Amino acid sequence: VLPKISLIATAVAATILLSGCGDDAAPTGTVTLKTAFNQSENNPQYKALVSFSDKLESATNGRYKLEIHPNELLGDQRASLELVQSGAIQMAVVANPLVENFNKNFSVLAMPYVYDNPEHQRKVFTSGALDSLFASTKGTGFEVITAYTAGARSVYTKGAAVTSPANMQGKKIRVMQSDTMIKMLSCMGGTGVPMGQGEVYSAIQQGVLDGAENNEITYADLKQYEVAPYFSATRHVMVADLLVANENFLAKMDEGDRELFRKLAKESTQTQFELWDKALDGARQTAKDNGATFTEVDIKPFQERCKPLQSAMLTTPEQKALYETIRELAE
Ligand code: GCU
Repeated sequence: VLPKISLIATAVAATILLSGCGDDAAPTGTVTLKTAFNQSENNPQYKALVSFSDKLESATNGRYKLEIHPNELLGDQRASLELVQSGAIQMAVVANPLVENFNKNFSVLAMPYVYDNPEHQRKVFTSGALDSLFASTKGTGFEVITAYTAGARSVYTKGAAVTSPANMQGKKIRVMQSDTMIKMLSCMGGTGVPMGQGEVYSAIQQGVLDGAENNEITYADLKQYEVAPYFSATRHVMVADLLVANENFLAKMDEGDRELFRKLAKESTQTQFELWDKALDGARQTAKDNGATFTEVDIKPFQERCKPLQSAMLTTPEQKALYETIRELAE
């Protein structure tokens, strides 16, 4: 994986040098914010970014717009976060677990069963309660601008549905590249195998994995129903996705533009929740039309087994305070 990442990083850096539009370039004309995204143009997050770009362009009289690169074209999320840190690109959407590697307090945003439902998560993301957490990665090259929903994640497998922790035994399930996600899979009874999203389809197809876990939209968007048609609604975790931006780029922006940028980015979260909600049924239907079976699951046994992990994830005073803040926003 590493050589691929550094090749992409070098290619991106070279392109930016040649075209002279890196973040050091004087803001003459339109500044394009290269933004990495790991899924397709159909994804509600992609659509929210397009709407954010349109609004930013019009609010700044054409001074700023986004140039979104979907489908892991700029590498997987880990690689794209490095590109943002180095300033080779300006923004990326990365899943919360990747940012946890910089500040463990982020893990609270992706704790099993921390949100009661999508509406609760929307309130948390739009309440301003996460602002100081988001600013906390300053100094590492990037800042979190806002959070997007990625729904609830469930397990999907080849062979048969998974309805109890006992069914999970011996199953190799792909997880995102984070310790928390590996631990989460163990508490659910299976074995978590970390890898970037782009490799999941073929790893399941080749039998390296028994399945994966994700939301219905990603499941359908990436056609993973073709290789793992049994979708079991474990809804074990709602992992935030984070829009991250290069720190120097932000610092160099004119103050008025920066405020507009921040405001419109935050507003894109509300848009993104609405787009997500609208897309869910269609994604389920697409998967079903292509042979997927959806099975409801009694989540209590999974919840019980994950309780120790929940408490183990609340170690620092900041984590405990954040957990309380999130829970207070539940209805
Ligand atoms: C979801 C999430 C992505 C993440 C992906 C994954 O689709 O929105 O940010 O990359 O899961 O499992 O890797």
